[in-house]
Amino acid sequence: MELPFAESWKIKMVEPIKKSTREEREKWIKEAHYNLFQLKADYVYIDCLTDSGTGAMSDRQWAAMMMGDESYAGARSFFRLKDTITRITGFEYVIPTHQGRAAENVLFSYLVKAGDYVPGNSHFDTTKGHIESRKAFAVDCTIDEAKDTQLELPFKGNVDPKKLEKVLQEHADKIPFIIVTITNNTAGGQPVSMQNLREVRALADKYNKLVIFDSARFAENAYFIKTREEGYANKTIKEITREMFDLADGMTMSAKKDGLVNMGGFIATHHQDIYDGAKCFCIPFEGYLTYGGMNGRDMEALAVGLDENTEFDNLETRIKQVQYLAARLDEFGIPYQRPVGGHAIFVDAAKILTNVPKEEFPAQTLAIELYLEAGIRGCEIGYILADRDPVTRENRFGGLDLLRLCIARRVYTNNHMDVIAVALKNVFDRRNEIKRGVKIVWEAELMRHFTVQLERL
Ligand code: F0G
Repeated sequence: MELPFAESWKIKMVEPIKKSTREEREKWIKEAHYNLFQLKADYVYIDCLTDSGTGAMSDRQWAAMMMGDESYAGARSFFRLKDTITRITGFEYVIPTHQGRAAENVLFSYLVKAGDYVPGNSHFDTTKGHIESRKAFAVDCTIDEAKDTQLELPFKGNVDPKKLEKVLQEHADKIPFIIVTITNNTAGGQPVSMQNLREVRALADKYNKLVIFDSARFAENAYFIKTREEGYANKTIKEITREMFDLADGMTMSAKKDGLVNMGGFIATHHQDIYDGAKCFCIPFEGYLTYGGMNGRDMEALAVGLDENTEFDNLETRIKQVQYLAARLDEFGIPYQRPVGGHAIFVDAAKILTNVPKEEFPAQTLAIELYLEAGIRGCEIGYILADRDPVTRENRFGGLDLLRLCIARRVYTNNHMDVIAVALKNVFDRRNEIKRGVKIVWEAELMRHFTVQLERL
């Protein structure tokens, strides 16, 4: 008999988690203005809010932290991190930052000007925020198929080359770079194929533009290339990763995801002029160039994390857990963005809460219901997160309205996945009784989902 699949690690340290009653949760979520970001984490049983900074470090990463060099300038830990990044990505110039959005802030301060257009596949909200706050435009050129959650495509995160070329033609002189997010978080943690990255590179070369990868989940993207794209089955994750980055001019990185650390990020590039331009913004915003917002010990842990997470076994363990949860949802007929992506399940709330009008935010409503059901915290990736149109100030209802259930790396077991699946089934079974959603009573101008205050209708 063939042996079943099991994790490529064993557990050395545990952290207790607590259940609560429905009455307690009713009170807590009301006090949080029905915004799950505003809940105390102690009020959460299984936390699927994000896979960002929530992973468990390995014994090797903890050991490496003891070797941190906290020198203000020229720290040994910086060079260890830089050498690892250069080996994995090929990029020679590295600027550490405290997280991904800080990398965006530093790089975009140099590259993005008012009136610019930055095309790519779906921009993550902070990426969009950093573009729009500079009075520039983020143009989403993701393939249309990504909007049909039930369509099974191996690389649903791809850029549509036709859409991209149209933007390049129309705004040629106002495009500082093309940004490709790997994997495409907003579209469901969906990967981008090597073939597509090559097409983007060819268009960028034709119009003489830079290509930047938003690389938060680059290793998961490489896993999908290895397991789904022809010609890559026998290549290692590190070989695939290198081939991906060879198609870019630079990258921003939130190390809190595929770097397997709780905080950290960086910019990397092979262009000295980009490095020289960005470094002037790193010093005032983040810190001196050899720490840029990170402790020496954190840079050590990140160097080890990047190596660990560009190994197949670690990625296989992670993605198979996400696929396990997806298979449980299939048993119950719960619709989500198919096929399941790398870091999360994106439940199609609009298909479930069909009685809740879009103006009352179905995905946020589903997030609240799931929390009330079992203390599970998910995150709306939908109409609230989409913010208002910067010009018309109208809500943007054009995209998908999803409830994202992120799976933290190396944190929960498949028993937790079973609890999530059954809790969601219980909400799903009473979906037709849920007729009203929420209304906004206070919101910020940009990235409103973090602080929005809601009332239940
Ligand atoms: N890019 C992508 C694709 C992301 O998913 C994130 C963060 C960022 C950039 C910003 O990085 O958080 O380190 O500043 N995503 C988290 C999430 C917050 O929950 O998906 P950061």
